[in-house]
Amino acid sequence: MGPLACDPCTTEHNHLNAQVFYTEKDDGLTKDWKSLTYCNPPYSKMKLWAPKIKQQAEKDVEIIALVKNATGTRWFESLWGADAICFVSGRLRFVGAENSAPFESLVLYFGRRKATFRDIFGEIGRVL
Ligand SMILES: C[S@@+](CC[C@H](N)C(=O)[O-])C[C@H]1O[C@@H](n2cnc3c(N)ncnc32)[C@H](O)[C@@H]1O
Repeated sequence: MGPLACDPCTTEHNHLNAQVFYTEKDDGLTKDWKSLTYCNPPYSKMKLWAPKIKQQAEKDVEIIALVKNATGTRWFESLWGADAICFVSGRLRFVGAENSAPFESLVLYFGRRKATFRDIFGEIGRVL
């Protein structure tokens, strides 16, 4: 969907080549993010990251977020406002992992380019 301006939770390797990136040491939770942000938060800290995603989206930051498909959890409540949701088919195998994750994933989109998101992410799952 275009070059990434910000990855607020990554390592110093900055795999996705974001223009600005934050590691645990920088603490991306304390920063303002920029469009276009890609966020794949630490899953053990969703109580902090879900409200942060919502807060930044409300500041008009365009965000793509890869999260666990855990729509029944309390933390997910903050994320129902997504403009589009891709229900990823199958289970992802993360870089360095031997097996697929024991859970399904969602890609959430916050922004005005819903049709573009649907076109691109429709290739990996159903988009609502
Ligand atoms: C699910 S991984 C995502 C990895 C990243 N998308 C990549 O491809 O390298 C979550 C990452 O967030 C980092 N992290 C944890 N707490 C953080 C914080 N407060 N601020 C920024 N990054 C953090 C972890 O070190 C980990 O690399």
